[in-house]
Amino acid sequence: MPPLAETLLPHEGIQRDGQRLVGLDPIVEELLLQMACQWDGALQDWSEQTQQPVPEDLEDSLTNGVALVLLHGDPGTGKSASARFVSDYYCRIKGITGSILTLTTQARGNGLVGDFAGNIWRAFDQLRALPEGSLKVMIVDEVEGMAVRRSEQQAHHEEKAATDSFLQVADELAGESRMIIFLTTNQPDEIDPALRRRCIAEFGFGRPGPDARRVLLARQLPAFSEAQLDALVTVSEGMTPVDIRAALRGCYMAAVSKMEPLAFEVVQEVLSQRHRTQAV
Ligand SMILES: Nc1ncnc2c1ncn2[C@@H]1O[C@H](COP(=O)(O)OP(=O)(O)O)[C@@H](O)[C@H]1O
Ligand SMILES: [Mg+2]
Repeated sequence: MPPLAETLLPHEGIQRDGQRLVGLDPIVEELLLQMACQWDGALQDWSEQTQQPVPEDLEDSLTNGVALVLLHGDPGTGKSASARFVSDYYCRIKGITGSILTLTTQARGNGLVGDFAGNIWRAFDQLRALPEGSLKVMIVDEVEGMAVRRSEQQAHHEEKAATDSFLQVADELAGESRMIIFLTTNQPDEIDPALRRRCIAEFGFGRPGPDARRVLLARQLPAFSEAQLDALVTVSEGMTPVDIRAALRGCYMAAVSKMEPLAFEVVQEVLSQRHRTQAV
C-alpha cells in the first residue's frame, strides 16, 4: 500500500462543505469541547472558574487517553464530513496547521500474509511522523471491515491480526497531544468490542428530520415556493442528504437538457420514487 494521501489543514473546501452541514451542530460542538478538554486545559479553566476540583479519574482519562472517537450511522449522513470539518475548525481556532490521513479498506491489501496488519502499522507510523505541534488526524473509513470482532467464527487469521494491530496502536498512542482518530462505520455492532471500549466518545448520525430536509431542499431549490417546499419535505422522508442531492441533480440535468424550467411535479415525483440509501 502506498503512503496515505494527506489533506492539509486549514482547507477551504472542507470549511465550505462543513458550513453547509445541516443538523450536525451539536455533534461538532461536543467534539470541539472534547478536544479542548483533552489538549487545551478546558477542564482546569472550568475548575478555576467554578472553584470545583476536577476528579482525578476524569483528568487521568483525558490527559492519558487516546482521542479515539466512533462515528456511526447510515452512509451519506455526514460522518466523514463532520470529522473533516471539526479538524479544520480546530486548526483555525488554534491558529495551527494540521493533516488528515484517511485509511480505507484498501489497507486489507492483496491477501498476502501480514499485509493487512503491516498496512495498519505503516498508516499509523505515517500519522505519528506528521509535524510536531500540528493537528494529526486519522479517519478510518468503514472500520467494521478493518477491526472485525475477533470472536467471529468466520474471522480469518489475517483479520484477527489486523484487529490486534488496531488495539496495540490505540494503546501506543495514549497521551499524544493533538492527535485524533475517527472511526466511522454503518455497522457499529460488527466492530471488535475491545476497540469500541477504547473509544472516548460515540456519536450517532441519523437521517435528516423534516426541519433539516426543509433547509436542504430550500437551499437546492431556490425557485420553489414555501408551500411547494413543504410538500417536498413530506415526500423526501427517509432520504439522506446525499440521496436528496443526487435526486435533485438528476432533475436539474433533465431540465437543462430540455432547456425547460424545473417543474415542481417532476421534483415531487422523483423525490417520492427515488431509491433511499439502505440501512445495513
Ligand atoms: N447533514 C448534512 N447536511 C448537509 N450535507 C450533508 C449532510 N450529511 C452529508 N452531507 C453531504 O454529503 C457528503 C457526503 O457525506 P459523508 O460525510 O461522506 O457521509 P458518510 O461519511 O456518513 O458516509 C458531505 O460531504 C456533504 O456534502
Ligand atoms: Mg464516510
